[in-house]
Amino acid sequence: MERTWIVGMVALAGVVIAATAFFLLRTTGTDHDLRRVIAEQDLLPIEAVDHPDALVGLGRALFFDPILSGNRDISCATCHHPSQATGDGLAVSIGTGGAGIGPNRVLGHDRELVPRNATEIFNRGASEWATMFWDGRVRLSRRGELLTPAFIGLGVDLLPPALDSVLAAQAMFPVTSETEMRGSPDQDPASNEVAGFDDREDFPAIWDALTARLMAIDGYVAGFAAAFPEVPADDIGFEHAALAIAAFEAEAYTFTESPWDRYLRGDDTAMTEDAKQGALVFFGVGGCGECHTGRLLTDQRFHVRAVPQIGPGKEPHQPRDFGRAGAGGGAETQYAFRTPPLRNVTLTGPWTHAGVYDDLEDVVRHSLDPTAALISYDPAGLSPEVAAVTLETFDGVRGAILTYLERRPIDPITLTDAQVDLIMAFLESLTDPAAADLMHTIPDSVPSGLPIDR
Ligand code: HEC
Ligand code: HEC
Repeated sequence: MERTWIVGMVALAGVVIAATAFFLLRTTGTDHDLRRVIAEQDLLPIEAVDHPDALVGLGRALFFDPILSGNRDISCATCHHPSQATGDGLAVSIGTGGAGIGPNRVLGHDRELVPRNATEIFNRGASEWATMFWDGRVRLSRRGELLTPAFIGLGVDLLPPALDSVLAAQAMFPVTSETEMRGSPDQDPASNEVAGFDDREDFPAIWDALTARLMAIDGYVAGFAAAFPEVPADDIGFEHAALAIAAFEAEAYTFTESPWDRYLRGDDTAMTEDAKQGALVFFGVGGCGECHTGRLLTDQRFHVRAVPQIGPGKEPHQPRDFGRAGAGGGAETQYAFRTPPLRNVTLTGPWTHAGVYDDLEDVVRHSLDPTAALISYDPAGLSPEVAAVTLETFDGVRGAILTYLERRPIDPITLTDAQVDLIMAFLESLTDPAAADLMHTIPDSVPSGLPIDR
């Protein structure tokens, strides 16, 4: 009796020791491999940012204040809302004239949908950013000059010089877009004094009119004076508003504590074993790291990923979106879009430039064989508003993309279901738990006194 008991205990101890050793070896093996990939591919964590309080406070007010829209009915936050992980939860956005926030937002009477999915705006204060928008129409040139739609040719650049980053330059443009914030002279009352300007040559007129609105409000006069003590009130322009908005976006929506970021800073225990193995698939056989790379998990370049196109499209009179080519990228960049950065990606659906997927695993499966995914995509589940401008032309646009892909095929990648699960675990490790609740970034009120989207 006693002997059997001892033999049993010894055998059990042996099993436990062997299992622990196996587990440790497997984990240290994974860490060893992953740390090598991280070093080779120069993968880095997100860093904290720090901007002056007065600038951030002014930026917060402006970001949430509908005063920046022609009809005083929509703010930046309507489409980049704290309740929607800095996006709007819609496939493609709904601008001025619409009502509500999040997936239930509805289009105003006779208004058009915005052609693209609202990007999340996490970590956009990082100094590596050199491109903004799905088509990179705001970007830094190799010589470090800001190139934007305000460069109207013949050497004329209407962009004010004070802007110091692509993020600040970006904030100059939503207010000029007729469908997003400005409104239209045909639909809107005379009280909308910015609707009548032309959105190309008249950029400065739009910016000046909005600045005049702001400087007629005591709270903003004080806010600009505190944020820009060296600039006299008469010299405040919309670029100062844009600088403040950029400071707020960076300060409020930079998150440095995802498991992946903690792991990158040296904490081996920050990620689960599955997430680590998923990272090895992602940066290895999955091929994802060819584009989703570096500190921001984007090469900031433009690639054709055969994403189905829904919504009104960007081209005049054509329900399609040429992506980078539509913003001056040349014919070889047709249907190419900027690689998205993936931090907090589990929170930021629907995904892709047209918001066609609401299930993240579908995006991963699409990424493995983009052409097959385009062929099998079924537009049946679209919202009525999107379906109305999509269904009739969908097959024609899909055919055009497929024809384009015949000349430039995308090689499919085959992974097992288990490997796809591991990639999903890695994508989950890119989410900072603090990014899941952003409601504290909403101010109690804004200087215009207009209602805030909550
Ligand atoms: C009607 C909805 C809407 C409003 C209002 C809006 N945006 Fe956006 N935002 C979008 C959409 C859609 C995109 C992507 C457009 C594209 O790529 O062509 C975008 C893109 C961006 C980006 C680019 C991020 C990147 O990395 O490419 C930033 C930053 C941003 N918006 C900030 C703002 C700010 C600041 C305001 C207010 C001044 C604002 N947005 C107002 C819908 C909106
Ligand atoms: C050749 C470059 C490239 C490769 C390889 C690649 N991606 Fe992407 N990825 C992109 C681009 C570009 C987009 C945006 C495409 C669009 O919307 O038209 C994108 C979109 C995404 C999105 C949606 C993100 C969002 O915010 O909407 C996810 C998730 C994603 N990719 C994951 C992956 C995974 C996982 C892999 C590997 C299996 C992968 N990607 C491989 C370039 C690439």
